Amino acid sequence: MRAETSIPVNEIIATRRSPRSFNEVAEISNEDLTAILEAARWAPSAFNGQPWRFFVGKRGDEVFNQILSSLVEFNQMWSKSASALILVASKTAKADGSPHGDYLFDCGLSVAQLVIEAHDRGLVAHQMTGFDREKAKVAVSMPEELTAVVVIAVGVQDAPEKLSGPLLERETAKRERLALHEIVLKGLPF
Ligand SMILES: Cc1cc2nc3c(=O)[nH]c(=O)nc-3n(C[C@H](O)[C@H](O)[C@H](O)COP(=O)(O)O)c2cc1C
Repeated sequence: MRAETSIPVNEIIATRRSPRSFNEVAEISNEDLTAILEAARWAPSAFNGQPWRFFVGKRGDEVFNQILSSLVEFNQMWSKSASALILVASKTAKADGSPHGDYLFDCGLSVAQLVIEAHDRGLVAHQMTGFDREKAKVAVSMPEELTAVVVIAVGVQDAPEKLSGPLLERETAKRERLALHEIVLKGLPF
């Protein structure tokens, strides 16, 4: 469902969603995968610190299975059909050893760019924090200085009817957001 906005916004922003019905045979090309990682790479970050790091698996390969194994059962159920699973990790300390206060914000921006590039290429991307961070760290042999942040399932959207039960319900549920006046606490332009 298209986002309802008072003024038309960018097409990808209006139509992007986080589906759970993925085509289980669709493969992602190296070009698409590289492009979405490039989009993530070029995100802005505090002091251009770029704390993000990525672990990328294509369905069927070792990294995919390592990331999949760290997801909670609910997420495994649907994301096993994704074409790729991307685990985003981050440095939490700067080069001088001081804490990197903005690392989550920076990673969020990077992932937002990745997601938009994926959707612009006709793919879909679904972010997840429903996973065991420690398990993921061990599974992919993550360097000690990194912490796991989020997993993103990327692939080709399939028909909602391929899902059942609560998964199907969520897939067809109306997408909702707080109204603009509820989130713009001062200065709403109308
Ligand atoms: C940080 C983050 C964590 C999320 N974790 C999960 C998750 O573990 N499992 C899941 O099915 N969806 C997860 N989602 C998807 C959200 O539920 C979804 O983005 C939200 O309901 C809005 O729907 P939309 O993206 O289709 O607009 C997550 C999204 C974000 C941004």
